[in-house]
Amino acid sequence: MGDKVKITIDGKEIAAVPGEKILWAALDNGIYIPHLCAGRDDHSPLASCRLCFVEIEGYAHPVPSCTQEVSGGMVITTRSERVDRIIGTGFELIMSNHRTDCRACPRNHSCELQKIARERKLKLKPARLPRLDRDLPVDGSAAKIKYDPNKCVLCGHCIRACREKGAGVLGFARRGFERAVTTFNGSPLGESGCNNCTACALACPVGALALKE
Ligand code: FES
Repeated sequence: MGDKVKITIDGKEIAAVPGEKILWAALDNGIYIPHLCAGRDDHSPLASCRLCFVEIEGYAHPVPSCTQEVSGGMVITTRSERVDRIIGTGFELIMSNHRTDCRACPRNHSCELQKIARERKLKLKPARLPRLDRDLPVDGSAAKIKYDPNKCVLCGHCIRACREKGAGVLGFARRGFERAVTTFNGSPLGESGCNNCTACALACPVGALALKE
């Protein structure tokens, strides 16, 4: 990291630290880019949600802004037909198996999915894809936290928070449609060694992990 360089995002010239990811440079300067899975301190971002795409002048295809580093003179656009198509499709895929019971959800009005829908004028209910409710049991076994895997968007923030601040009991399991956040041996949270630090619930952007009332 050295002296700041000038880049342009959506016609606005901003100063950014070389090497920082475009996503954070944009957000820090009031330019919104949808994102679910990126963490500011990630050295190797998962780039799994596919919602943070931008166009960079001179690049043949849109790229995820959470993995692309800033360099001096970059000219970036957060909206284009291609970007909107990628983000719209990615969002619809996520929403096709996210249980949407917003009124009963503890994250209602502070949910990242609602924010993305609002900012990009997308529908929370997918129009083109069938709804695939996994109908998994809700885990209320921990003292302070409940986990509804039907709402999980696999962003990984809970896993990071659990490793950094908690007992490190959460991880990803399985692949494809079966992929899920679980405890390492699949046991209920209350029997997993979870110390109820609640960091996972605070980190979850969509209400899958939430504080008990
Ligand atoms: Fe970049 Fe998820 S925030 S792919």
